[in-house]
Amino acid sequence: MNLPYAEPYRIKMTEEIRQSTREEREQWLKEAGYNLFNLKSSQVFIDLLTDSGTGAMSDKQWAALMTGDESYAGSKSFEQLHETVKKISGYQYLLPTHQGRAAENVLFSVLVKEGDVIPGNSHFDTTKGHIEFRKAHAIDCTVDEAFDVENLFPFKGNIDLEKLEKVYQTYPKQKIPFCLVTITCNSSGGQPVSLENMKAVKELSDRYGIPIFFDSARFAENAYFIKTREKGQEHRTIKEIAREVFSYGVGMTMSSKKDGLVNIGGFIALNDENLFRAASNFTIIYEGFITYGGMAGRDMAALAVGLDEATEFKYLQSRISQVEYLGNKLIEYGIPVQKPIGGHAVFIDSLKFLPNIKREEYPAQTLANEIYKEAGIRTVEIGTLLADRDPETRENRYPKLELVRLAIPRKTYTNNHMDYIAAAVKNVYDRREEIAKGYQIVWESEILRHFTVKLEEA
Ligand code: F0G
Repeated sequence: MNLPYAEPYRIKMTEEIRQSTREEREQWLKEAGYNLFNLKSSQVFIDLLTDSGTGAMSDKQWAALMTGDESYAGSKSFEQLHETVKKISGYQYLLPTHQGRAAENVLFSVLVKEGDVIPGNSHFDTTKGHIEFRKAHAIDCTVDEAFDVENLFPFKGNIDLEKLEKVYQTYPKQKIPFCLVTITCNSSGGQPVSLENMKAVKELSDRYGIPIFFDSARFAENAYFIKTREKGQEHRTIKEIAREVFSYGVGMTMSSKKDGLVNIGGFIALNDENLFRAASNFTIIYEGFITYGGMAGRDMAALAVGLDEATEFKYLQSRISQVEYLGNKLIEYGIPVQKPIGGHAVFIDSLKFLPNIKREEYPAQTLANEIYKEAGIRTVEIGTLLADRDPETRENRYPKLELVRLAIPRKTYTNNHMDYIAAAVKNVYDRREEIAKGYQIVWESEILRHFTVKLEEA
């Protein structure tokens, strides 16, 4: 008999979580303006809002916290982090930031100007926000397979080379500061990009003189998929694969809250000295001195250990198998999910789940709210609310998919929790015909509205 993938760790500390009643949850949801971001964590039983900064650290990371060097400049913890980032990415220069979007802010302050275009594979919302805030445009060149949830294509995060070349042909080189490859591709369902695709993107971009940057929040999970799905990669280590990936770009932005296995932090890593100097100025203005950039020394020390542990195969195998376990349970129950199951989350196709809800009434948000009411599970809408309005026309942008994301925090919940989640979603699925009305917006912000939007029942 094949042994299952048991976690390569055991649990040393636990944290109490509390169940609530349906009546309590209905009241809390109403008070929260039907926006799950507005709930208190004490009102949530299982929190799948995000896998960002919500994971558990190892004993070695906790030990590293105690060794943190809090010197303003040139701390030992920065040196440790710098050495680890060099080893894993091959990039020589490091600028810490307080989280991923801060890395975007610093880098884009140097590189992105009004009227520019940045092609890539389904840019994450803060990334797009930082581009559009500068009156530039993000152009999505993701492969079409990504938008068909039943298609089992193994690398649905890939960039479509024809779409990318069209961008290179349409706009002058000066208007395209870089191409951004997000690994894994969060917005298309935690889907990986293949090594072959990155190589091809690099070759094409070289011909047009466009550099490549990586949005690397989940680069280790991406490397796991390369190792397990791409021919010829199965004998390589995660670290070897990650090094090759990064060799196709000139730099990376990182949200350390994902594959850094820490609760806060981010960084930029790159090779170009001039770019490093220009970005250093913005780091100092926005984040802090260049050897801490908004991070405590102890957090950099824990991150150095986390990056090392996140790029170990055994850890990734248990992590991604747990996400797959939940996904397979939902498939078994007949629930429409993005296939194959992604690295950090299971994505439910709400248009198929709730065909009675009109697009204007936000079917994915409606489903997320139903799952909360059912069992106290907090998920997140990856649909029209997240897609924001078109900055020029101010019309709703309807994305190809309306998804509910069940993001699994790292090393935090057990497979009993996964069984509970699957049962709760099935209960909602069984009464889907009764769910006939969605929501309408009462108040929204100009940009990144989904975090703070207030809704009422339609
Ligand atoms: N890039 C990607 C691909 C992300 O998923 C995120 C954050 C960021 C950049 C920004 O990083 O949060 O550290 O500022 N994603 C979280 C999520 C918020 O829930 O998917 P950050």
